[in-house]
Amino acid sequence: MNLEIEETRLTSEIDALARFSDAEAPAVTRVVFTEQDRKARVWLKERCREAGLNIREDAVGNTFARWEGSKPELPAIATGSHIDSIPHAGRYDGVVGVLGGLEAIRALQSRGFQPRRSIELIIFTSEEPTRFGIGCLGSRLLSGALAPDAAAVLRDDEENTLEVVRHRAGFTGPLDRIQLQSGAYSAFVELHIEQGPILEQEKIGLGLVTSIAAPASFRVRIDGEGGHAGGRLMPGRRDALCAAAEIILAVEGAALAGGAVDTVATVGICEVHPGAINSIPSQVQLGIDLRDTDPARRDIAQGRIELVCREVAERRGVSIAMETINSDPPAQSSPEILAALTTACEKEGCRFRAMVSRAYHDSLFMSQIAPVAMLFIPCRGGVSHRPDEYSSPLEIARGVRVLARTLATLADGESQS
Ligand code: GLV
Ligand code: MN
Ligand code: MN
Repeated sequence: MNLEIEETRLTSEIDALARFSDAEAPAVTRVVFTEQDRKARVWLKERCREAGLNIREDAVGNTFARWEGSKPELPAIATGSHIDSIPHAGRYDGVVGVLGGLEAIRALQSRGFQPRRSIELIIFTSEEPTRFGIGCLGSRLLSGALAPDAAAVLRDDEENTLEVVRHRAGFTGPLDRIQLQSGAYSAFVELHIEQGPILEQEKIGLGLVTSIAAPASFRVRIDGEGGHAGGRLMPGRRDALCAAAEIILAVEGAALAGGAVDTVATVGICEVHPGAINSIPSQVQLGIDLRDTDPARRDIAQGRIELVCREVAERRGVSIAMETINSDPPAQSSPEILAALTTACEKEGCRFRAMVSRAYHDSLFMSQIAPVAMLFIPCRGGVSHRPDEYSSPLEIARGVRVLARTLATLADGESQS
């Protein structure tokens, strides 16, 4: 089967989606359930309808665009990713898996392929933790990893609950109807940019993801004592930001201490109260992201951070509370889907290598209810979560071609040509 990927259409659709943004180009800011997210969803559903796909949305806005197979009673196969972005991001993270998935379906349709199993394109809600503090909101609910009651009370920065925000966005059904049963899909394959430098450095066009690292995140609240920056002398101060500074460095140290390249730790949030130049910080909130391919080693790093929090609290006379936001297991890819991806790469004559995903993805949670695997394409300089994120049309088209072939195999269909 000779697959034609319409590179120009795909590039112009990626550009079109990037225009639904609250940041000035080339940056993209598209946070879940904002006006830009709403408009992007409308635009995308129109593209899916044009391709003859039937659309269903669940109570949190996960969107399922289905190409009905000749045996619709069989568990479907699925592909997809997310279209929300972190603030000041680029245009490829998630989007390549969604628009690339749609293009793969269109390429199969134009070859006259008839799937036996239905093929669904899934657009997951809020893979990014930006608004509600937890990543993969949609896929967590789909898999049952997040309980509906716990989801309903998640709050954004303006103290609006998910329950209120999703209703305002028009998603009103019961949250407890979102979860899918294990076996609902016979396979899920996600196309994504690598978000790391390996493929580019090794000049290899495709990465076959064999496992996804285990992510965890924590909120640390430090309460000290505020006061006048001039009037209050240095002895006896209980400056919450000075305590935070020690913890931030300890987080970096905790990742480095084990000597494993796969342990990574980041403090991406530091909110200082009251945030005035002439006022001693009385309270600081930190957001810590900690990941490892080996969850036991991740837990050791977490233990190191907790120890430092206790020690700093005692020595500086501040109170420190560390709360776990999420602590998830890693995911392993399905050997059958990896075999289908391998064959597709070989048929397309593409060089590929096996790799680990250190970023998390909706596949992490889909793996709890379905066999999964991921396909990575290179991104320039390994850069992601930045406006200068870039993958070339050629690299994207290569990924889409291999994805399309893999979907054809998994959907167990017939080609008319
Ligand atoms: C996904 O965006 C991640 O943070 O890995
Ligand atoms: Mn991301
Ligand atoms: Mn992503």
